[in-house]
Amino acid sequence: MSKNGAIKLVAGNSNPALAQQIADYLKTGLTKAVVKRFADLEIFVEIQENVRGSDVFVLQSTSFPANDHLMELLIIIDALRRSSARRITAVVPYFGYARQDRKPGPRTPISAKLVANLITRAGADRVMTLDLHAGQIQGFFDIPTDNLYASPVMVRDIKEKFKVDSVMVVSPDVGGVVRARGLAKRINAPLAIIDKRRERAGESEVMNVIGEVAGHTCILVDDIVDSGGTLVNAADALLAQGAKAVYAYISHGVLSGGAVARVAKSRLKELVITDSIEPTKEVRAAGNIRVLPIASLIGEAIGRTAHEESVSSLFD
Ligand code: R5P
Repeated sequence: MSKNGAIKLVAGNSNPALAQQIADYLKTGLTKAVVKRFADLEIFVEIQENVRGSDVFVLQSTSFPANDHLMELLIIIDALRRSSARRITAVVPYFGYARQDRKPGPRTPISAKLVANLITRAGADRVMTLDLHAGQIQGFFDIPTDNLYASPVMVRDIKEKFKVDSVMVVSPDVGGVVRARGLAKRINAPLAIIDKRRERAGESEVMNVIGEVAGHTCILVDDIVDSGGTLVNAADALLAQGAKAVYAYISHGVLSGGAVARVAKSRLKELVITDSIEPTKEVRAAGNIRVLPIASLIGEAIGRTAHEESVSSLFD
């Protein structure tokens, strides 16, 4: 418990519903703050309660529009630091820019590292995030970073909805195998992998399914659904190999451009995402997209951090 009463939660504008649900879980309110735009769209922040000596958690996903939400996060942290908060934790359920975690070619940036530097230099003492695109991004920070996993919430849902002995977990690409294997282990299901290959430049990608998926209900597991292309193509490849039905459990529903329509038209039975990114009306209205609430997991992790208790044991 901080010297200055209970923990403080300050929300940016990225996901007000999630922020309120986290506050409800922690049986507290959101700290009064103004986060608004001037006429030229500069961001202005005013914390309207005393936070001197407080343990403050800033709730903000750096989702679409990523740059605005990132800038809000940085300015909120700056305001809190200048208001003498004792400890500032940036709670970033969806960490935008995470996919830019290495140089894909010469003369390109490592933007995930730059974003980590910005958050640290703004004054964050700790970072909490959910299903980071790559675990190594934690090493881009020199401050403590807790990477939470949505898997307990997904596993509960999968156990409720499926006969687990007919399920096969599938990683839609080789890069996601560790994540998918983790979930497969938790439900005691076998694992298949899709290996996407372009044999020659200019030729279309071949999807090799590694594993016997015929007759199984396949559950694709990944961190991000963005355009939806990865999932829709994976579903087609699995069905072509005799899978009974294909579902997907994805932590972050980025769903940009025509993704919702693409998923709606696809052969995916259901796409399940969390609300780490605020679901749009279009997402809520989609027939085959369902949203799992993540607030209690994040709220519990915040409570444990505030009381210096184990966070990792949430995932045992
Ligand atoms: C990539 O490495 C990620 O894990 C996702 O597979 C990817 O971002 C999904 O993108 P999209 O939905 O545009 O295919």
